[in-house]
Amino acid sequence: MRLSRYFLPVLKENPSEAQIVSHRLMLRAGMIKQSAAGIYSWLPLGFKVLRKIENIVHEEQQRAGHIPMLMPTLQPADLWKESGRYDAYGPEMLRIKDRQDRDMLYGPTNEEMITDIFRSHVGSYKDLPLTLYHIQWKFRDEIRPRFGVMRGREFLMKDGYNFDLTKEDALHAYNRHLVSYLRSYERMGLQAIPMRADSGPIGGDDTHEFLVLADTGESEVFYDSEITDLKFGDREIDFDSVDQCQAVLEEFTSRYARTDETHDADLFAQVPADRQRTARGIEVGQIFYFGTKYSEAMGATVQGPDGKSTPVHMGSHGIGVSRLLGAIIEASHDDKGIIWPEGVTPFHVGIVNLKQGDEEADAACQALYDSITALGLDPLYDDRNERAGGKFATMDLIGLPWRITVGPRGLKNGVVELTSRKTGESEEMTPEAAVEKVAAIYRAIA
Ligand SMILES: Nc1ncnc2c1ncn2[C@@H]1O[C@H](COP(=O)(O)OP(=O)(O)OP(=O)(O)O)[C@@H](O)[C@H]1O
Ligand SMILES: [Mg+2]
Repeated sequence: MRLSRYFLPVLKENPSEAQIVSHRLMLRAGMIKQSAAGIYSWLPLGFKVLRKIENIVHEEQQRAGHIPMLMPTLQPADLWKESGRYDAYGPEMLRIKDRQDRDMLYGPTNEEMITDIFRSHVGSYKDLPLTLYHIQWKFRDEIRPRFGVMRGREFLMKDGYNFDLTKEDALHAYNRHLVSYLRSYERMGLQAIPMRADSGPIGGDDTHEFLVLADTGESEVFYDSEITDLKFGDREIDFDSVDQCQAVLEEFTSRYARTDETHDADLFAQVPADRQRTARGIEVGQIFYFGTKYSEAMGATVQGPDGKSTPVHMGSHGIGVSRLLGAIIEASHDDKGIIWPEGVTPFHVGIVNLKQGDEEADAACQALYDSITALGLDPLYDDRNERAGGKFATMDLIGLPWRITVGPRGLKNGVVELTSRKTGESEEMTPEAAVEKVAAIYRAIA
């Protein structure tokens, strides 16, 4: 993409409505525009990152054996009357009447709808285990939408639902989700810590929330500092192996880590004093096992091996896809702007032409652009007639991890400059070497 042809409406001034850095930077970098309280348009740059995050979530869910689908945003109220949640949900649910005067709602989550789909089509234990998921917009009429996409009213969520014959099988599904979530967040450059959570209105016994530590987080968290040393990394895992998935759960949940809702001061006191930490965190996901709560209420049963009809064991598992943009920026920025982790960056590399219109500089930039594109990477070429300072400021603000700077002076010696957004360090090298270095970095995370 050439910046002169792109749509990147960056703001010079700090928007006054933004209270936290991620919201401020998303507005300044032209990623989102508010259309109503807690409802945003995703401008091209924001949309690109949103898609990157979605792709990681899709890949990791499918790696775990979970099946993608898509359910509608609008739901009939009848299903929610069956489960009993139509009344229980309260004013957070956006209720709508259609022209036939039928009660509808904009889905805040999809347990009822997926249970209805399941009961319509599955009747035998032989079709289990089954985990279906989708990535779809949700609406919750939050009393206080704030912090931009972090607490929106309309937001994008991945929600997945497992159906299993036994509690044991359903707990394996729970563990599979835990592993796939750890992998997903790490690919986004984030550390998200599973913490024992409260089950809230969905109801259930086993549940963990995934929290990204950040001062601006809305949850207060308490943990054993040893937990932040844990990394899933690139280890191989067989998602069908009950033991392997259980071992990961044990590894990542055996140290104290809880939100204020489940915090237990006596248990916390048993953590060695020098390892006790209190901090704030952003909830970027949650996994639940809730047994037969919905299957019993809605008659989602299968015939077991003994021929008897039995309600399925279920769980639901969510990732805050749109909230993640805010969480990543909270965790990765400096006073000049965003610093995208390579796994989610909107463009892989920026090309800055220091002297637009100079024949040699223009040709060198074009050659870089072509060879980077030929490798399947996505460069953003700042080809505007702007001063170098302005071009650097834009690149720093939008946070591409790598920048190649091209100017007549370097070209005389056959070199360009490759700069890391994170460290600010620059290196001179030939254009070919710069392309190769950038390509190698992205090959390593592909
Ligand atoms: N209003 C919102 N805006 C953006 N993302 C949200 C919002 N509410 C929930 N999410 C995201 O969706 C994920 C799954 O939804 P879940 O039902 O667990 O939310 P929740 O526990 O009600 O969230 P919260 O406690 O932050 O209100 C959450 O972990 C969070 O990342
Ligand atoms: Mg939650």
